[in-house]
Amino acid sequence: MLSKEKAYQLLIEGLAEPDEIRYVAHSKYVGDLAGMIAKELSLDYEYATVLGYLHDIGRKYESDNHIYAGYEYLKNNGYEDYAFICLTHSFLNNDIECICGCFLSPDSRGYREVKEFVENHPYTMYDKIIQTCDLLCLHSGGTTLEDRIEDIEQRKGTHHKSLYHKETAFSQKEEIEKLLGHSIYDFYDSL
Ligand SMILES: [Fe+2]
Repeated sequence: MLSKEKAYQLLIEGLAEPDEIRYVAHSKYVGDLAGMIAKELSLDYEYATVLGYLHDIGRKYESDNHIYAGYEYLKNNGYEDYAFICLTHSFLNNDIECICGCFLSPDSRGYREVKEFVENHPYTMYDKIIQTCDLLCLHSGGTTLEDRIEDIEQRKGTHHKSLYHKETAFSQKEEIEKLLGHSIYDFYDSL
């Protein structure tokens, strides 16, 4: 089992100035927020934190297709138990088209494998927590779901299923908040 310290080391190793890199700061916030949620839900705090730290690790290897690059990296380097998060974090509802921004291109490397994995991987609360935290955390910390989705769509555009993604994201956040008994935003003071 990876510790959160080791996962963070994996994320930053080889990077010249990790503190200056936006996806590193974003991943740290995603992991820390996911850990706080998991802890309060009596889930595995460390595991949730590790998944958050690692979900975007593929950005280090291939910025255009970070999903598949991260999956390959973790799978090929002895961390196969965590590789799934690189694929599942962007796609809600076991649906490769339930994504914020633009669709994954059918021409992208590994597309068929990603699609098959996403459609068949049983999503757990950990997947949902990471997906939700990914849609709440900027490189500068937590924001609202509305603002984060707007931020992604401004950069990556929209598609004909964007509203469906947005509605799914909101209901997933509400599902978690119902279990918590309070808003996820309440954690932002401790982030
Ligand atoms: Fe992310």
